Amino acid sequence: MQLIHTIAELRARLAREKSLAFVPTMGNLHEGHLDLVRIAREQGSCVVVSIFVNPLQFGPSEDFDKYPRTLEEDCAKLQGLADVVFAPAVDDMYPVQQAVFVDPPPIASELCGAARPGHFRGMATVVLKLLNIVQPRVAVFGKKDYQQLHIIRRMVAELNLPVTIVGGETVRAADGLALSSRNQYLGADERAEAVFLSRTLQGMRQSILQGERDIERLQQDAVSLLTSRGWAVDYVAVRNQSDLLPAGLPQRDWVILAAARLGNTRLLDNVEVALAG
Ligand code: PAF
Repeated sequence: MQLIHTIAELRARLAREKSLAFVPTMGNLHEGHLDLVRIAREQGSCVVVSIFVNPLQFGPSEDFDKYPRTLEEDCAKLQGLADVVFAPAVDDMYPVQQAVFVDPPPIASELCGAARPGHFRGMATVVLKLLNIVQPRVAVFGKKDYQQLHIIRRMVAELNLPVTIVGGETVRAADGLALSSRNQYLGADERAEAVFLSRTLQGMRQSILQGERDIERLQQDAVSLLTSRGWAVDYVAVRNQSDLLPAGLPQRDWVILAAARLGNTRLLDNVEVALAG
């Protein structure tokens, strides 16, 4: 496995590769990321993983400075799984102040975008840059960041990018908590409580499968329950998988999404629901 820090060196290394599969990350890798790398391995003969904490997608009061940077450990985890690790410096990715951005679709200002203005614009811009730099045949992103994956798919479709986007299932701890680099910020009590987010979504899923159609009430009940347990809820929302607009028939493939804070840690989760035809 080769560790490359500059765009020029990466381009030279990848020039003759015909079947590139790419996994963009911000590092601090856990089993969820490694699963995406394994999916990439099935999709291409050369697997590239990028590790870049993208300043453009963090708001001024967010955790950019404190985001865990663990390049050495990440490379050890990727041995035998990836062929190339691309870990550029901020100055290489942004040699001048970025003035050209991807303007994401309106859904980018809802759900996570409502609490994180500009986040998806910065995310989509760096993903487009990375896709242009690596030029993979396939790129793999986790479904845990469901809205991110949706926006990337729309960017790729609407800008006619020559890449296939593959979504990897969320990997969970034994108790059901979705793996995330931010889980390590949780104190012991918070970690014990954190699983309640996925349990709440699972409970909503069961209610929907049993015929509950009062979505407003389901959402409000979930927010009240989480709030009563000490969570600060950004949103709990039942949406269509296809467009992330509020769920409703005739669409039958829905997804329940949530973002909520425990102390200072913001956790995300989602669960898909397919209504019987
Ligand atoms: O999901 C992430 O880790 C990041 O948003 C991504 C896609 C690597 C872009 O910085």
